[in-house]
Amino acid sequence: MPRPKKHVFVCTQNRPPNHPRGACVHKDGGELLQAFWAELQKRNAHDTVSVTYSGCLGPCDQGANVLVYPEGVLYGKVSKEDVAEIFDSHLLGDQPVTRLLVPSEIWG
Ligand code: FES
Repeated sequence: MPRPKKHVFVCTQNRPPNHPRGACVHKDGGELLQAFWAELQKRNAHDTVSVTYSGCLGPCDQGANVLVYPEGVLYGKVSKEDVAEIFDSHLLGDQPVTRLLVPSEIWG
């Protein structure tokens, strides 16, 4: 298996309703994960991009959160409508989508 150039972690953490930290799965994290997998399939980018579901990534109030390595770029409040842009700009074009970055005082 070739080592991917970009590894995407999509938070699908669940917690009980009314938990004080919330959870990305309640902010459509599951649908977001499916959208990333569908886009990966559509673009046949398996040799360069890997998409993995993840537990809590830390700043839950920013969710749904998506972490991209090797850069350690954290995207927040991501929806499935953002997935194509993340692929075009960052995963295949090496330019992070600045409008979705978690603020540096939270992820610095
Ligand atoms: S639940 Fe997703 S970052 Fe904490």
